[in-house]
Amino acid sequence: MRVAGDDLHLHNDYLRNCWYVAAWAHELIDGRLLARTILDHPILLYKGDSGSAVALDDRCCHRGARLSKGRLEGDCVRCMYHGLKFDASGACVQIPGQDMVPKGMSVRSYPVIERDSLVWIWTGDADKADPNLIVDFPYLREPGWRGVPDYLHYDANYLLIVDNLADFAHLAFVHRHTLGGSEEYAFKTKPVEVERQPRGFRVKRMHMNAEVPPFHRKVTRSDARIDRWNVGTMHIPGIFFLESGFAPAGSGIERGDISQARQYRNCQFFTPETAKTTHFFWNYLHNWNTDDPTIALSLHDSMVEGFHEDKAIIEQQQRTFDADPDFRMHPIAADAPLAHFRRVLAQLIAQEKGAALAA
Ligand code: FES
Ligand SMILES: [Fe+2]
Repeated sequence: MRVAGDDLHLHNDYLRNCWYVAAWAHELIDGRLLARTILDHPILLYKGDSGSAVALDDRCCHRGARLSKGRLEGDCVRCMYHGLKFDASGACVQIPGQDMVPKGMSVRSYPVIERDSLVWIWTGDADKADPNLIVDFPYLREPGWRGVPDYLHYDANYLLIVDNLADFAHLAFVHRHTLGGSEEYAFKTKPVEVERQPRGFRVKRMHMNAEVPPFHRKVTRSDARIDRWNVGTMHIPGIFFLESGFAPAGSGIERGDISQARQYRNCQFFTPETAKTTHFFWNYLHNWNTDDPTIALSLHDSMVEGFHEDKAIIEQQQRTFDADPDFRMHPIAADAPLAHFRRVLAQLIAQEKGAALAA
């Protein structure tokens, strides 16, 4: 049996009319000209004197030199090949030694929005770029939550990362010594809720009277058994939010009493660089003892350790697919959210292509 849309990863078919994370805002400090390929487009990202983020094609319209190798001048960028200067809209505003700028001398600019320390980009039809469509993760702005934002580059298609997060069963095997705890998590717990949503899914899993997972033990210094919940939500095009809580075993989380719980919120944003590589932006936040900076740093390090466990497997999967494009995945029960997500994404991409053909 094939999973609907399971060959999406083999193509550079992307949903273009949606927002993707292009960068953390802090990556654009100090007038940096950041070159980043997004959905196969080489793009230049920067913030000029006005402080607004700008995204332009990283290709001078004169002879194709990289604008990211150019020079920031106010809100403009100057190509350092023959000196053409472009403003934040991509229009050429100066040609050294020439009085007139011919009509049409411009590079493509992309809608960008900075929100909650993330820079979002829209590579589809600019007139459809509605800021209200940005998926909201309030914990990046709400006081009381602390984390360390970071970035990881993957040599794999972004959907393989989405797949990885579509179930928590892998925690037990891949992350046994870091994020998981014990294999019991896979054998003895089942999702208590799986909700298929129009643009994603939501999965909840609880684990009662469990061993404390190593990453949590490091910051609590307690071996006492815990009751644990995880609620993961995946959004189109590849945005994952995780809500987790750990409470003393028997303290009543199944009845909704979370007064003794220590909670975490995790956001992960997957942006295709190419069909075989991915930008991965993430933060793991906690809301207790936030005056102690070592907790966020310890959690960050534990997550990096855990993510590298996933990365090794996922990048190997990509190599497996590259070696044999006819290979097809065989789903198990835990893959229902994954199949739903791929079906929804395949439908949205097909609709977008259909609309473009009809236009
Ligand atoms: S290629 Fe940019 S100015 Fe000539
Ligand atoms: Fe994982």
